[in-house]
Amino acid sequence: MAFQAERGIICAVSVVVAAAWVGLAPTALVGSTQPIRARHAMVVSQDDLASRVGDQVLRDGGNAVDAAVATAFALAVTYPTAGNIGGGGFLVYRPAAGDPVAYDFRETAPAGASPTMFMRGREYDARVHHNSHLAVGVPGTVAGLHLAWTEHGSLPWQRLVEPAETLARSGFVVRDPLARSLAAVLPRMQDYPASVAQFSKNGQPYQVGDTFRQPDLALTLSRIRLDGPAGFYEGQTADRIAAEMAANGGIMTHADLAAYRALRRTPMTGTYRGYDIISMPPISSGGVAVIEMLNVLEGYDLGASGSGSAATTHLIIEAMRRAYADRAKSLGDPDFNARMPVAQLISKDYAAELRATINLDRASVSSPDSFSWPAEGDETTHVAVVDGARNAVSLTYTLEQGYGSKITVPGAGFLLNNEMGDFNPVPGLTTRSGRIGTDPNLAEPGKRMLSSMTPTIVSRDGRLVMVTGSPGGRTIINTVLMTILNVIDFGMNVQEAVDAPRLHHQWLPDETRYERWGLSPDTLALLAQRGHRMVEIGVQGAVSAIVYNAEEDVLEAAEDRRRTSAAVGF
Ligand code: DON
Repeated sequence: MAFQAERGIICAVSVVVAAAWVGLAPTALVGSTQPIRARHAMVVSQDDLASRVGDQVLRDGGNAVDAAVATAFALAVTYPTAGNIGGGGFLVYRPAAGDPVAYDFRETAPAGASPTMFMRGREYDARVHHNSHLAVGVPGTVAGLHLAWTEHGSLPWQRLVEPAETLARSGFVVRDPLARSLAAVLPRMQDYPASVAQFSKNGQPYQVGDTFRQPDLALTLSRIRLDGPAGFYEGQTADRIAAEMAANGGIMTHADLAAYRALRRTPMTGTYRGYDIISMPPISSGGVAVIEMLNVLEGYDLGASGSGSAATTHLIIEAMRRAYADRAKSLGDPDFNARMPVAQLISKDYAAELRATINLDRASVSSPDSFSWPAEGDETTHVAVVDGARNAVSLTYTLEQGYGSKITVPGAGFLLNNEMGDFNPVPGLTTRSGRIGTDPNLAEPGKRMLSSMTPTIVSRDGRLVMVTGSPGGRTIINTVLMTILNVIDFGMNVQEAVDAPRLHHQWLPDETRYERWGLSPDTLALLAQRGHRMVEIGVQGAVSAIVYNAEEDVLEAAEDRRRTSAAVGF
């Protein structure tokens, strides 16, 4: 109930704002399947304070990149489970005119990293891999947001960082989802006094209605506001990170921080039934896998077989199985893997070859002599922005697990990621129990770890259609796939596309997870007859999505009821 009430408030904000500014009748009611509509511009994130920061930037004449940057900095204050300056991510930008571009601000392995760094003697140590100072990659967020702003922003940098700094310094009122989230993580922060100090009231969880102030974070943000990336990668902030590392067996140094560079990359592009798909290239596996799956599915009339039917579900699962197998075998940091077969994986010919291996009546079997993956959480976050010119940003960034490494940099007020856990742990050892040892994604100095984050934009005939993305670890790619299918093949509006039940198959384990009540008993029976092992789960992902309704020249956004979500526009 608390969550519903929260959503009600958020929806009301969105609707009131939209209606007040352009005289549009409110078109989204609490719990409605109608999207939230705005004539001019829209921001969707997982936190309404952050979405409102982005909205104000747009009202002040900023463009989509400005709003995305400001929203991302605000999320680092108001949504600390995934919003961050100590992590990394990806931003795909499609200007209304000109070529789309992708920004890669994924974390890198420190210079002291090695493929065997997660082993103690001959044994793999999961704690080192995921929950230690060695699990921290060199953060990319500040450099990435700055690079995107340098190339496409229009408002002053200071204007974009300042709202986050104010939220950190003045504080904001804690509401139910944040109170519950902070209370849940507190026991796991006990090894790190700076984290306990930052995220609790002298060791006691924040309660709903308390004001949450983060003065150290405000100081760090003021250095970033004044000095740009140098306020993070050099000077006091870098000193504090390096000191925390040196005192606790970490390997990240001043030199690693100074050497960090965000990268501009050419987006991964494909086509699907006449639509253009613009997504993130490697080091994300997302763009490659989404395009590979869409290419496979293009050979079937999904509209005719219907949303949620056994026939359609079977085909989607078989596409997922194949794309995730290729992802695991072939993908890693392109700067360290010169011969990744990306062009082949996204080709229509390859999709035809894959289709030839799909039996319409029988599930394939994922190779039993290979491997499965370790469990992942859901704690990443996605921001979708479209401005008045119809420039669009799709931004996904993360600390990896919720609250990352749980390590707050003392005196600097921000959490460090545990993204090194996305590298394969033990060279050469690949097991069914979850260890992957394939070469492309082993830790090496300066290397980026493979990611599933899939910020994606869809267009058609030169015009924006959709911005979408989600948290959810490896499920992200399938969540994004399904929102695209729901809009293109099944004609859903964006809210329906986000509401619709999701599926996840990742090659191994050889099972399909489906959301509670997502498939009817008779559909499940038909899938079982085909040989599918179906596993019911709670929820998958938290999409932030915007569709551009060109006929009415209106933006339509979805709030994902599975988690907190806030669409704000005017
Ligand atoms: O980059 C990735 O694919 C993951 N580190 C994202 C993490 C995520 O979504 C939440 N789960 N651990």
